[in-house]
Amino acid sequence: MKIATIVGARPQFIKAAVVSREIKNHPGIEEIIIHTGQHYDVEMSKVFFDELEIPEPDYNLEVGSHSHAVQTAMMLERIEKVLFEIKPDVVLVYGDTNSTLAGALTAVKIHIKTAHVEAGLRSFNDKMPEEINRKLTDSISNYLFVPTKHAMSLLQKEGLAERSMLVGDVMYDSLLHNLNLAKDKFRLSDITELSDYYLATVHRQENTDDEERLKNIFEAFSELDKPVLLPLHPRTKKLLNKVDYGDNVKIIDPVSPLKMVVLLNNCSAVLTDSGGLQKEAFLLKKPCITLRDETEWIETLNNNWNAAVGADKNKILKQCNNLNPGDWKNYYGDGKSAEKIINHLKEVLR
Ligand code: UD1
Repeated sequence: MKIATIVGARPQFIKAAVVSREIKNHPGIEEIIIHTGQHYDVEMSKVFFDELEIPEPDYNLEVGSHSHAVQTAMMLERIEKVLFEIKPDVVLVYGDTNSTLAGALTAVKIHIKTAHVEAGLRSFNDKMPEEINRKLTDSISNYLFVPTKHAMSLLQKEGLAERSMLVGDVMYDSLLHNLNLAKDKFRLSDITELSDYYLATVHRQENTDDEERLKNIFEAFSELDKPVLLPLHPRTKKLLNKVDYGDNVKIIDPVSPLKMVVLLNNCSAVLTDSGGLQKEAFLLKKPCITLRDETEWIETLNNNWNAAVGADKNKILKQCNNLNPGDWKNYYGDGKSAEKIINHLKEVLR
């Protein structure tokens, strides 16, 4: 069996690493990795392949940053060419980025079976480009690999239950593996001088492209009771001249995936607009404050482990002063989702 894996952005490298590792246990499967080039800076891309020991991409389509339409269109054109050349049995796409949608759309149109890993997530906010990418990808893919029971129930409501399979969350597989790797590689003091801090990330279009929201978030950061360590996405960095932030905000370049695990494991709480980080915080039992108006990972909200407070300065500060989560339960599988994905594909594509 020949699998074409299509990736392009940071969170996809993390998810694909888990499945690539599993594929190596199946000698009859060949994996061909296609990198769209959506993320291209060394710290946004290459460092992920190196640290997570993902095989070098067989194709790098070097699409880069553009408007949504142009970026997606360039991907469609370039992915199609490669798929015609390599003729895979199945295309694997991950998550909800423009690379996900472009991969799925190209493949189904030329009748190549398509599998979507991390299917069924919904924020019910159509202003998010990711929400559009998810809904479209789920509706056209042949196999939907679903992380949670809640996501399964949403797919059922959309009439997609027959194509869906609950496998658990690949990010949980990944976290277990990466915690182990990180332990041997990095100490906290290799990464930061801080020992008591909040860990933050900000990169969502809804926050970065709205001056008011960005300002509120940074004002809240500057007034928090502990320093805020902020590995900063290049998108946000380019807009920072518009906001004032004080000494409490410690900005660093984006960090590698293993360093991020160390920072996460040692922080007192997380403030983020990322989907993946909310869940990683939850899985490591770190309280999270989500800088969005809603979250797809609704299980994390139980017992005050996470709160979606938006970009409201007062709500951010209030929630941060009120971090006392209750009982904790794992909703994200048994750490063997990659194995389930590959076994299922072997069965259906035999
Ligand atoms: C994308 C995903 C988002 C995901 C995020 C992970 C979409 C619609 N969004 O957002 O769901 O959470 O990746 O990080 O696909 N840039 C660089 N260097 C890079 C990449 C980007 O400087 O290597 C800058 C450019 O100014 C670019 C901007 O970041 O215009 C946005 O990049 P883009 O790939 O469009 O989306 P992300 O914000 O990274």
